[in-house]
Amino acid sequence: MQLDTTLGVTRLGHYRLIRRLAVGGMAELFVAVAEGAGAFEKPVAIKRILPRLAQEPEFVKMFFAEAELAASLDHPHIAKVLDFGEEGDLPYIVMEFVHGVDLSDLLRSTKGPLPYAEAATVAVQVAEALQHVHDHRDLHTGAPLGLVHRDVTPSNVLVGYSGGAKLTDFGIVKATSATQYTATGALKGKLSYLAPEQARCERLDRRTDVYALGLVMFELFTGRRMHRAMSEVELLARVCDGEYTPPSAVRPDIDPRVESIIARALLPDPQDRYACARDISAALEALAAERGWVLSMAKLSDYLEGQIPNPGPVTIEPSVPRKISAAPAVARTATLRRAVQSRGRSIAAISVLLGVGIGAGLGPTLLGSDDPPPQRAPAQPPEAPPAPAEIAAEPTSVSPAPTPAAATPVAEPEAVKPPAPRRKRRKSRTKPRKTKPGLNSSLLPPSQR
Ligand SMILES: Nc1ncnc2c1ncn2[C@@H]1O[C@H](COP(=O)(O)OP(=O)(O)OP(=O)(O)O)[C@@H](O)[C@H]1O
Ligand SMILES: [Mg+2]
Repeated sequence: MQLDTTLGVTRLGHYRLIRRLAVGGMAELFVAVAEGAGAFEKPVAIKRILPRLAQEPEFVKMFFAEAELAASLDHPHIAKVLDFGEEGDLPYIVMEFVHGVDLSDLLRSTKGPLPYAEAATVAVQVAEALQHVHDHRDLHTGAPLGLVHRDVTPSNVLVGYSGGAKLTDFGIVKATSATQYTATGALKGKLSYLAPEQARCERLDRRTDVYALGLVMFELFTGRRMHRAMSEVELLARVCDGEYTPPSAVRPDIDPRVESIIARALLPDPQDRYACARDISAALEALAAERGWVLSMAKLSDYLEGQIPNPGPVTIEPSVPRKISAAPAVARTATLRRAVQSRGRSIAAISVLLGVGIGAGLGPTLLGSDDPPPQRAPAQPPEAPPAPAEIAAEPTSVSPAPTPAAATPVAEPEAVKPPAPRRKRRKSRTKPRKTKPGLNSSLLPPSQR
């Protein structure tokens, strides 16, 4: 068994690692192949926590607790969690491999808004995925779990070449440890996607995800992030206050009905927002029908291919001939059993860590205007994981915007100074993409938040 992830070929249980997709402060993401009986081979994505975090029992417990919840979800627009295990003391989660790009990649490529129909297609699919999460019930008792994703961001929406968007990362490796990891940029790229109540460490519910979806829709329909670059402190203040920039401030010709939908999702008081994600998909579908926008996976697929050509299926190098046996046993180690048994305790721990994560992340670092550009891993990843993201500070020039109006169609947009031209982001495409350790563990029943 090789566990040196800097090498090209490694194995985790019966998964053969093909290449590393991304590495960050908390986890590595690999493309791998599940090898089964006979010639069975299927690409999967594997997220494995980094060795230093594997030393923290609380973190490991959270990792498995979240994975267990995520594995119980089953929806066409949610990337499935297929398996979880541990090897060489390093826990990992096996997920459905989505052949496509993430939404932040797509938005960087479009350098502007998606066409209305395609933007609405993605938003409707993500809304439906969220509705499934929010309505999810305990498989044994049937009791509603009140789950909240809490990390709905463009990089956690995968857009497949098949034309389907899939929500991913249900708190997987999101459990922010109360240690130095929060201080190394854990919040970069995250604060911009927090709902006001989340930033204020208040009680969360499904409307927190509705807000995040509003921010994702803002980007889909304008091509720009709502909260532009500023210091983390400034950004946190804006987020806590629920400050809002009308989409028309960055895209003056935006359809006013689209703006109205986004505005309602982004209302600072959860009570004023859409009550559930399905209300957003219903509003978008009704608007699409009126406007004649065709919401279709085939169209989204064509659009994606036009933007980022399909690199073709994952190339699976021939494996070393292997012994064919019965279906391989799933790696369920002692740690895994312990983690699952102590799920209740670990979930309680997550809620404690949430507050710590936010506070500890407010260091002197500055938040960039966007996530780092996509840095897909080359076939041979570099020797060492890259240092924390370096992001240029950039003052925002958007004037303080009014609180969004309620759901009714938005009147003439108020005059808002358009943002100043932005400096070009630094790009590097030679290193594996850096993952951003997340802020919050996600799938928490309300009683445990
Ligand atoms: N199941 C998957 N199938 C295919 N690609 C994936 C899958 N999950 C993640 N990826 C790709 O790997 C990238 C890195 O994922 P990862 O979740 O580690 O980081 P991130 O999404 O950028 O940050 P974070 O999840 O902390 O917000 C994703 O942006 C996506 O491009
Ligand atoms: Mg992610």
